[in-house]
This record gives sequence, C-alpha cells and structure tokens, in this order.
Amino acid sequence: MVANRLPVDEVINDGERSWRRSPGGLVTALHPVLAARRGTWVGWSGRAAEPGEPAPEAFEHDQMRLRPVNLTTDDLERYYEGFANSSLWPLYHDAVETPFYKRSWWEAYRRVNQRFAEAAADEAAPQATVWVQDYQLQLVPAMLRALRPDLKIGFFLHIPFPPVELFMQLPRRAEVLRGLLGADLVGFQRPLAAQNFLRLTRHLLGLRPRGAGVEVDDRLVHAAAFPISIDVLQIEELASTPHVLARSAQIRKELGDPKMLILGVDRLDYTKGIEQRFKAFRELLSENRLSVPDAVMVQVATPSRERIEHYQALRVKVEREVGRINGEYGRVGVPAVHYLHQSYSRSELVAMYCAADVMMVTPLRDGMNLVAKEYVAARVDLGGALVLSEFAGAAGELRQAFLCNPHDLQGVKDALMRAVNVDEADAARRMRTMRRHLRAHDVRHWATSFLSALGVPAPTPTRSEDNT
Ligand code: ADP
Ligand code: F6P
Repeated sequence: MVANRLPVDEVINDGERSWRRSPGGLVTALHPVLAARRGTWVGWSGRAAEPGEPAPEAFEHDQMRLRPVNLTTDDLERYYEGFANSSLWPLYHDAVETPFYKRSWWEAYRRVNQRFAEAAADEAAPQATVWVQDYQLQLVPAMLRALRPDLKIGFFLHIPFPPVELFMQLPRRAEVLRGLLGADLVGFQRPLAAQNFLRLTRHLLGLRPRGAGVEVDDRLVHAAAFPISIDVLQIEELASTPHVLARSAQIRKELGDPKMLILGVDRLDYTKGIEQRFKAFRELLSENRLSVPDAVMVQVATPSRERIEHYQALRVKVEREVGRINGEYGRVGVPAVHYLHQSYSRSELVAMYCAADVMMVTPLRDGMNLVAKEYVAARVDLGGALVLSEFAGAAGELRQAFLCNPHDLQGVKDALMRAVNVDEADAARRMRTMRRHLRAHDVRHWATSFLSALGVPAPTPTRSEDNT
C-alpha cells in the first residue's frame, strides 16, 4: 500500500520517538485491510524532516510493516499544502473554494510522487500487488510501472473525481491523467466519477474507452466504482461495551440531559458544510422551533491542514458563529453549542455517536464520509437519526437517512426538524435498513471487491479468524 500518510504519525517528545494514529477516513478504512494481509504501508511519517535527513528505518506495527518516506518543510509547503491541498483538493470538490495553482507546486508534486514510487519499487517483491491511494499520489502508478513493469498496480481515489469541464482547469492535466493510467485498475467512490475519468481519457488524450475500460499502450486499464466502508464489527463491538455505554450516558448527563442532542463530527474542512449546519441550527433557535436547553448541539472539529489559508479562514468563521449562537441563545453554564477542536479516541467517538439523537453530516461535497457510516454502525440499539447531505458519497447507499441539499438552508432545516420529530418506530426502521446494508458492505467487502477486480486472491484467514 502506498499512501501520503502512514496510519500513525511520528511524535517526538523530549527526544523520545512515539507513534500516534493519524487523522482521516483513509486510515480508518485501510488499516484493518492491510493488517489482515500483513502488508507493507509506504507513507509519510507526519513530521517535517531536515533536508538530507535519512528516512527512519521500516518497522513492524500492528501486523503491518511501515516504510516511512521523508517530507521536508519545503515538500510540505509545495506538494502537500500546495498542489495537493490548495490545487487538487478544492478543484476535485466542485471548487467550493477557489483552487490556486503555482508552477513550483507542480514541480514538488512530481518530485515527491517520484520519491514514493521509488520507495514502493524498493519494497515490493517480484510480481507483487501495489495499491496506491488518493489524490496526493496520482503520478505514482505510471512512475512505478516505469520502474517495475512486473507489478500489478491498483489506484483508489478517496475523494470525488470532477466532471471533465472542471478537470480541464488543472494545469498539467494530461500528466495527471497519464499518471493514473499507469494503474491496471483505477477505483472511485461513485460510478459517476469513473464515467468522468473515462470520458476524460477520450477528451484529453483521444483514447477510446469501451465499457469500463480503456486501452493505453497495449494495456487495458479498468475504471469502476468501489464505495469505501468501515470496520462495522469493530464499531459495533465498541458500541456494545459497558464502559462505552456508561461513557455515553455520562456525556448526556454532562450536557444537562437534553431532550435532543445534535452531533457533528468532522475534520475542520470547508467541504464539510459546518457553517451551513450552524446557520440552520441558529435559525431554528430564532424561530423557536428548537430551544435551549432542550436541544443542544455538539460539534467535534478535528484540527486539519492548519497552515493553509482557506482552513485558517474557516476556523475563524466557524468559531465566530459558535460565539454568536452561544451569545444569543446560551445561558450561564448552558451553551447552545459545544465546540470541540480536538481529536478523540475511537471509543470516545463511539460513545458520542451512541449519545446523539441526531447526527448531522452535511458536506457540500465528500467522496464518501465515513462518519455517517460509523454513526449507523454504532446504533446497535436502532436509536438515533442521520441527516445526510446528498453530496456525500454515502448518500448513494444510506438512502433511509434524512437527505438534504446543504446549499439549500431551508432544506437543511427541514431535514433536521424531520429527524428531530421522527417517531421511534420510523427511526428504528430506517436505522435497521441502513445497518443491514452496511453489514453486507463493510471495509473488507470493499477491499475484496477492489482486489478481486485487480485479480488478487483473498488473504488466507489466520488461525484465530478460522475459529470465529
Ligand atoms: P475525511 O477522510 O475527509 O477526514 P471521513 O468522514 O471519511 O472524512 O473520515 C473521518 C475519519 O476520522 C472517521 O473515521 C472519523 O471517526 C475520524 N475522526 C473524525 N473526527 C475525529 C476526531 N475529532 N478524533 C478522532 N477521529 C476523528
Ligand atoms: O481522503 C481524504 C484525505 O485527504 C485522506 O487522503 C487523508 O488521509 C485524510 O483526508 C486526512 O487529510 P490529511 O492527511 O491532509 O490530514
């Protein structure tokens, strides 16, 4: 596996090195998949390296081999914060914020992609399968194929793939597309994204896609949708443990036992629709359709990409809005919104999911959104209600959620009120149907579908898995 980040970030405290789980949905999904196959994960260690500093040695972690790749401060500024997260990220998310382009960012993107390709080429056994992940590494498939033509190469894009008209904005667009075409199989979250990709090969490179494939240099490259998922069993188990249930009850108590606990959990990202969610809540309070302390909102906003301007501006806007709502509708000791700019353990997050009457997932655009799936997986009690944006990939599967268009404030308010007022039987029916779908489509199903489409057999079960 090759991904921008390793599943753990390196933390140095008083000269001592330790490792901590790294953020985001990609890690949540891929960790159990790679551990089950005892695979090697090539990725950045999460810390800026000095120029010329050798990368840490590969090491064993949680049934995987981790091979760190170094990124210097300059790489981080131009490749990660620049081309990946200020050009590609906004462009691929419908340009909900303006994408910026700089030539020096592109050069760094190419240089760093080459570094990842070389590390993967060095790690991979003869005829191995290498699975490259996400928009940060779109040039790796072609670079790796040039270094190691014996490998089987898959690529999966975790974020949306834009329509042709939008992709055409991208400087060096043909090189990005050729990079992806180095793979044998290119996977996307949704069928429309795969279609966009195949259309683009015709439009930009004059290729002739047929069905779900396109021929390039006498090779066939396939493109299809494989909606990513979560480790459903792991979340269910957490949601059933006594200490998580006790913590969940305690959270409600600490919040003053509200009748209606509304929850949001996101990276603090402008694609997640956090502002729109607050605005809907504020208007409902002002119209007395909701009131404090009966209704309370908790927003967990994980710090993310904090050096990038769009993210700094978002933080200011979100925190101003929280202040405004609390100023107008809170009371001493009873805020209307609890805003938590922190990271939490899996069990604390699951306790929050179990405590929430309504979960709000309202991205303006999102490849999948695993938080929505985690909430459903955690509701083993069939309680709770999910408000879900039509623009999250998850909306293609979780059809029984209260779907809304996050650009339409009235629509968000109505969906939230329908979720608040849903009767118990209807809520349970919706939750049961969504849970049934998720159990049949968990992250193992996702990985197996992708890898079998790539021609890779399923892993041999370990002895303990045999026994279960
Ligand atoms: P993205 O990949 O854009 O971050 P997803 O919703 O697909 O969005 O995945 C986010 C992942 O990060 C989920 O697994 C979620 O549980 C986790 N997560 C979100 N917020 C926090 C937090 N504050 N602390 C720890 N994990 C978090
Ligand atoms: O798929 C979304 C994604 O960008 C992943 O590639 C990444 O692991 C996650 O979000 C978190 O982002 P970052 O690595 O930039 O903190």
